[in-house]
Amino acid sequence: MKITVINGSMRHVEHSQSLKVSRYLLQALKSQSYCRYTHLISMTEKPYPLWNEGVWDGEPEWKALLEPIGDELATSDGFVVVVPEYHGMAPAALKNFLLMHNKYQIGHKPALLVGVSSSDGGAYPVAEMRMSSTKNNRLCYIPEQLILRHVETVLNEKNEDNNAEADAYFRERIDFALTILGEYAKALKQVRASNTLHNEKFSNGM
Ligand SMILES: Cc1cc2nc3c(=O)[nH]c(=O)nc-3n(C[C@H](O)[C@H](O)[C@H](O)COP(=O)(O)O)c2cc1C
Repeated sequence: MKITVINGSMRHVEHSQSLKVSRYLLQALKSQSYCRYTHLISMTEKPYPLWNEGVWDGEPEWKALLEPIGDELATSDGFVVVVPEYHGMAPAALKNFLLMHNKYQIGHKPALLVGVSSSDGGAYPVAEMRMSSTKNNRLCYIPEQLILRHVETVLNEKNEDNNAEADAYFRERIDFALTILGEYAKALKQVRASNTLHNEKFSNGM
């Protein structure tokens, strides 16, 4: 199976703690037996300008941007969505990204939410994503989630940069959460194979 990590951080790559977390998650996924392929999509790369009508009108410039990433999403079996907290919100670039992609690409596929905070925060963006990012695309956030607090002190390459106790806890907890993601990925394949999911009359969620 293929799992794509979506990094929501808009910061420059040199500063993004969420990118550090995303890279760690990509490595951790490789040691999960269910995961054969991984892919990273990072808002640090600013993949899209803000949404405009050209998306729906199929303008060539938009198509050129959207199709390669859309193909990566469509061939994924599940996602990890890394969402840093910016003034208590999910990053605008991540919400913009979700305006671009649809139920045929990400619908009825499981996603693990990973909140990131440099302090004691990280819960608001996870709650926001659960509340308002899946109505029409039918992405399925799994019940298990991670919130990496004091993120500068964990998952660093050099041991001396880590808080040993917190770091060990999160590494173990990440493996636990990724294992659960794999079980949902296997189970939801069956749901998608049912051919009951797409109905033009009920094209969007309520
Ligand atoms: C614009 C901005 C707003 C932030 N607001 C919050 C906040 O409300 N709560 C919080 O816990 N951290 C906040 N932070 C700190 C982030 O948690 C910290 O920068 C973390 O590393 C974010 O991930 P990133 O480095 O990948 O962007 C904010 C950071 C930025 C850049």
